[in-house]
Amino acid sequence: MSRSSRPAAGSGQKAQSAEREAPERHAPCARRYALVLKSAGSWQQPQAGSWQIAAGSVLRFAACCLLPAAGWLLLVVGCQQQMADQPRYEPLRRSAFFDDGSSARLPVPDTVARGHLNADEAFYTGRAKGALVGTLPFPLTREVLQRGEERFNVFCAPCHDRTGSGNGMIVQRGFRHPPSYHIERLRQAPIGHFFDVMTHGFGSMPDYADQVPPRDRWAIAAYIRALQLSRNATPADVPPQERQTLQGEKP
Ligand code: HEC
Repeated sequence: MSRSSRPAAGSGQKAQSAEREAPERHAPCARRYALVLKSAGSWQQPQAGSWQIAAGSVLRFAACCLLPAAGWLLLVVGCQQQMADQPRYEPLRRSAFFDDGSSARLPVPDTVARGHLNADEAFYTGRAKGALVGTLPFPLTREVLQRGEERFNVFCAPCHDRTGSGNGMIVQRGFRHPPSYHIERLRQAPIGHFFDVMTHGFGSMPDYADQVPPRDRWAIAAYIRALQLSRNATPADVPPQERQTLQGEKP
């Protein structure tokens, strides 16, 4: 390049030197091209004596194709994180993150899970300001009583029997005899007491908080009240129109 740009002595000389110098000017480029062709050929057909070139080709091939392919493979395999293989703590596994070293965390104090506010104290505990409630916390209907009867016969009658006297089948087979619901103390007990006994258990009687939801516990308590009333009812307790039917019936 520098030689061709140098000013020539005469115009004829200039043309001559351009002709002569042109191939020389491209010589390094052509040599490189020939080398590449040669090495490519030697990759396909390795020749005796050109093992350096062949090795170079293999290395080049590895660098150009195999390494990126291996990289992609790693990337793809690395991204496939199985669901079972997620970063997580096994139960009771130690944690280096929390100060107390425990990975199992307690909820922040006063946290209430959604739908678990249970703000109605009387309905959920049977107590109002610490004292047992004396009335059902929702209106009493025939459906509530029927539901209470059905649940009582499932969960309570095996020990307390269907009349509430306490001679259920489990008691007949040796379980501790519960008091009859018809004793004066339990007749005078506020309805919240029955809810409380079902919620927390009583002496050797287990609690039924898990098996019987709060509304059903109240329905059972209402039915126990009906059982108690049935033992001590007088004709005056029967509504007038029903009383006539009752009195008309022959014993
Ligand atoms: C496995 C038998 C068994 C079942 C089932 C059972 N109880 Fe009892 N219950 C007892 C026994 C035994 C006692 C007496 C416990 C004691 O005094 O140690 C008792 C006592 C009671 C008392 C009297 C508490 C008091 O103040 O003396 C009530 C009320 C009561 N049960 C209600 C229920 C209700 C309601 C159910 C059904 C949800 C039920 N029980 C189911 C065995 C049972």
